[in-house]
Amino acid sequence: MHFSLIGREAELSALAHDGERAARGDPRVVHVSGPAGIGKSTLISAFLESRPELSPVVVSGAEQESSVHLGVADRLSRALAERAGIPHEPVNSNPLACGDALVELLAGAQRERGVIALVIDDLDWVDPASVVAITFTLRRLRANRSSSSSPAAPSCCQARPSRES
Ligand SMILES: Nc1ncnc2c1ncn2[C@@H]1O[C@H](COP(=O)(O)OP(=O)(O)OP(=O)(O)O)[C@@H](O)[C@H]1O
Ligand SMILES: [Mg+2]
Repeated sequence: MHFSLIGREAELSALAHDGERAARGDPRVVHVSGPAGIGKSTLISAFLESRPELSPVVVSGAEQESSVHLGVADRLSRALAERAGIPHEPVNSNPLACGDALVELLAGAQRERGVIALVIDDLDWVDPASVVAITFTLRRLRANRSSSSSPAAPSCCQARPSRES
């Protein structure tokens, strides 16, 4: 980081705890929420910079793209394929099939890199189909955790405050 992070010891400690559990094969979903500008993105960035072994994959929702069907899922798919060292293929237009493919891509990325931290920043602006696909992926990770011998992924989901506020 280009500046000193002020405070956030408790939050960094909580994230570290989840990272350690994920490294032991227990995937974690972390929801970071708070008012606009409070420091959500900064907190996650600082944590990931201190833990490069978590191989972060970061994608963000954007207001201008919030109606692009599976736009964020496609970017996530592309990033995971790159980590897995395989060519990226366009995502299936069915969100559940897309989520299923993301599980496989994540497994491939984990084989190459170990634990992967997925960060979905500005969640409120992620297109609805991508939310379905990514939520499906996370459910599958949780369901598979006891039968999987590969390292699992801690998943850091960040939310903007509601658009009404
Ligand atoms: N703990 C901190 N120490 C120092 N500066 C901070 C800290 N947290 C946030 N900042 C600064 O505050 C500003 C806003 O932080 P950030 O973008 O992380 O907020 P956010 O909660 O992600 O905002 P948004 O809701 O718009 O996504 C940035 O300039 C950042 O550098
Ligand atoms: Mg932010």
